Amino acid sequence: MNSFNQGIDYLRLSVTDRCNLRCVYCIPPGGIINKPQQDILSFEEIIRLVKIFASLGASKIRLTGGEPLIRKGVVHLIDSLTSIEGIGEVSLTTNGTLLSLYAHRLKKAGVKRINISLDTLRRNRCKKITGSDSFYRVLEGIEKAKEAGISPLKLNTVVMKGINDDEIIDFIDFAITRGLILRFIEFMPVTQLWKEDRVVSIEGIKEICRRKFRLERIGTFGPGPAQYYRVEKRGILGFIATDINNCIRCRRLRLTSTGELKICLYEDEGFPLREFLRNGFSDEEIRDKIKGRIETKRYTDYRDRRFLETYMYSIGG
Ligand code: 5AD
Ligand code: SF4
Repeated sequence: MNSFNQGIDYLRLSVTDRCNLRCVYCIPPGGIINKPQQDILSFEEIIRLVKIFASLGASKIRLTGGEPLIRKGVVHLIDSLTSIEGIGEVSLTTNGTLLSLYAHRLKKAGVKRINISLDTLRRNRCKKITGSDSFYRVLEGIEKAKEAGISPLKLNTVVMKGINDDEIIDFIDFAITRGLILRFIEFMPVTQLWKEDRVVSIEGIKEICRRKFRLERIGTFGPGPAQYYRVEKRGILGFIATDINNCIRCRRLRLTSTGELKICLYEDEGFPLREFLRNGFSDEEIRDKIKGRIETKRYTDYRDRRFLETYMYSIGG
């Protein structure tokens, strides 16, 4: 139990800090320096840690990045993770650019749910937002994932004023016709790339949706941050707000690609599990360290915080 007394059952695992896109809210304009290869956890180290987390109650793992499909051998890693006792579900958050290549293999390796980050439905805008002419590749990826039978398939869309807020209705049409669960995410003050004048509040986003669609509230599914609504019996739409209640309900742990454990997204200094792995600690000792950290670490209230020194590509959302 952590300081909010929730059981921890969900681990977000960043398998690389590298990405093939350069999203405006994620990568600083001057570019980034990736972590040195020797600092990145090996698959053996990841698997060892996941076994320890599983023994502490983690049953759901989500692979993130950077872009998780960039990491060589990621499907083998997933194969190993799905066979760890206690791990009931392995899912993935991806930018979708490599999904058409991987969808069938991911399905075979046991991935059920996939979230795809997509912030525009317009090719030229996609170039501006991500620095890459990748829109049609992502569309192809979505189709391949559907074809492979991955379900649910979700779209994550960060709404930004003057950038994509005129596409809210288009996104709903796009998602409904393809059977995707669309989630609008409020632009959150996490890093220095955040700009207050780019924020459209969740209430503002809902209001725009209601101009065209009737929304019926469903509520939350489990401990996740999204509030879901039914869209006229045709589909499901989620909203993720910057909201302290999400912190209060949060049950997620994050492990960075270099083996830092973060109890909260708004935490600059993670807990360096890699040090323990590489300095001869036993599983039992590492387990106790993690347990102690989870129990004593308080969440960081984003409202009192300055921006993180790190960027989202190294945390994985
Ligand atoms: N606010 C909201 N969402 C963000 N993401 C990255 N940075 C932010 C931010 N400042 C999203 C990405 C991706 C997920 C992992 O996190 O778009 O969907
Ligand atoms: Fe890559 Fe995701 Fe960051 Fe975009 S938001 S640059 S896809 S890690």
